[in-house]
Amino acid sequence: MVGPIPNPLESLLPAEQTLPLLLKGQKAIVTGASSGIGRAVAIALAQAGAEVVVNYVGGEQPALEVVNKIKAAGGRAIAVQCDVSKEDQVQAMFQRTIKELGTVDILVNNAGLQKDAAIHEMTLDQWNIVIGVNLTGQFLCAREAIKEFKRRGVKKDVSVSAGKIICVSSVHEVIPWAGHANYAASKGGVMLMMKSIAQEVAPYRIRVNSICPGAIRTPINTSAWNTPEAYAGLMKLIPYKRIGEPEDIGRATVFLASDLADYINGTSIFVDGGMCLYPGFATGG
Ligand SMILES: NC(=O)c1ccc[n+]([C@@H]2O[C@H](COP(=O)([O-])OP(=O)(O)OC[C@H]3O[C@@H](n4cnc5c(N)ncnc54)[C@H](O)[C@@H]3O)[C@@H](O)[C@H]2O)c1
Repeated sequence: MVGPIPNPLESLLPAEQTLPLLLKGQKAIVTGASSGIGRAVAIALAQAGAEVVVNYVGGEQPALEVVNKIKAAGGRAIAVQCDVSKEDQVQAMFQRTIKELGTVDILVNNAGLQKDAAIHEMTLDQWNIVIGVNLTGQFLCAREAIKEFKRRGVKKDVSVSAGKIICVSSVHEVIPWAGHANYAASKGGVMLMMKSIAQEVAPYRIRVNSICPGAIRTPINTSAWNTPEAYAGLMKLIPYKRIGEPEDIGRATVFLASDLADYINGTSIFVDGGMCLYPGFATGG
């Protein structure tokens, strides 16, 4: 029998692994790619052979660092500024991508934010900003991607699919979240938007899926993991007894974007260490 692992609170995988070249010749846009999950996804896609657009909304330097990291490893990447909640900016990002990289094969709809408030104190601005980025932003990018996927069609030497969209949703597309009604509503919206689009464009060999992260160590949720007390509280929600790392989402995204996942369509894949397993019932309820 295997004994307890040495440090159950950390991933036992190396932060960066060598990934198979599953995405060679493919072009990917990753939104919100200058930090956290988006950064790790951009790097993982590049490691798997994709050329990557590192989208950022403000502060060019962190985006350029991601680009330089990809280039230093022999990959190709460009940084493109765009607020995903603005229609004209999203269209300009896709136009530039197609001009510079030739086409788009993979869209990772990752950009997102939180504006937390008790419901009776939540302002309309807090509501609209979160829905605008997390839900409308995903719609605007998906729409442009699908136009390009349909125009180009399948190129079998690149991928057996005409295009892939991966929506970064959250466990909060199914777990209600008090004090975060705007965020949970945006992710619940992403779920049915993703499924509806998947149903609509499947005949064109376009696959649309979501990845639902649990608690991942990124700037969006620093207060949930940056003190021992907070970390211990978080572990009560995670049966696997470690926080997720951005690279956990990077690896799942590479798989879902690749032809290995060709028959996966319209599905949410939870990457959450079991957070959705009703951890309160682990001891019998
Ligand atoms: N960290 C987690 O535990 C967790 C869990 C579930 C889901 N998620 C989701 O993962 C995604 C990435 O979050 P993260 O944890 O890496 O946090 P993060 O704050 O590091 O990343 C979010 C990124 O989105 C960018 N962004 C915000 N508004 C934008 C806009 N209008 N246009 C373009 N980019 C914009 C930010 O600049 C940032 O780079 C989000 O959609 C988030 O909801 C995160």
